[in-house]
Amino acid sequence: MRLDRFLSNFERFNRQQVRLALIAGRVQVDGSVVRDPLHAVSEFSEVRLDQALLQAGYPARYLMLHKPPGCVSATQDPQHRTVLDLLEVPDKHQLHIAGRLDFNTTGLMILTNDGQWSRRLTQPATKLPKVYLVETEQVIEPHYIETFAKGIYFAFEDLTTLPAHLDILGPRLARLSIVEGRYHQVKRMFGHFQNKVLTLHRERMGALMLDDSLQPGQYRSLSAEEIGLV
Ligand code: URA
Repeated sequence: MRLDRFLSNFERFNRQQVRLALIAGRVQVDGSVVRDPLHAVSEFSEVRLDQALLQAGYPARYLMLHKPPGCVSATQDPQHRTVLDLLEVPDKHQLHIAGRLDFNTTGLMILTNDGQWSRRLTQPATKLPKVYLVETEQVIEPHYIETFAKGIYFAFEDLTTLPAHLDILGPRLARLSIVEGRYHQVKRMFGHFQNKVLTLHRERMGALMLDDSLQPGQYRSLSAEEIGLV
């Protein structure tokens, strides 16, 4: 159905009000502002006016997956298995990944069909801490702590990384908390010291912790409380 017709079905809006609301950017479909009156909406669409929910759409899904190594953080890949291949849930192709991980990175991955919610997890302005357990080839020296806290210059993007917190847990083991999600960020930060990352595991995204009872490849729905933490 056309978005303007959908909105006109609500008794409180006449056609003029619908037109003005659309022009003013007050209407969101699946988390994005839509001004086009012809935009198609279905029973799967989440429709909001001024953030107020007009239609919840298809049941929202929020999954926590323990990503195994050797699997692509994408919904489709011609060569490798993807995280979606691990899921046995209806309509899994409506899900998207909130914060990708590299092919061999393991740990916490969130999949959802709620774009507005996942944006809060991933948009840079949120500065959500992402916590990784990192194993490296060379010894992690104490001076890394200060360098990571000051930020590291990434020439390709011409930017300096935001302050990151490093806890050294062993000669080649550390826990790193970063508030951005730059391309290969953790590997490049250790790469600054020519120290290769051997294994990388995401333990936490903000208040969402990987459930210890999930084995690699396993997943579960988030609880209402966990959804509310974001
Ligand atoms: N940083 C990386 O280098 N790789 C990841 O998968 C996540 C963060």
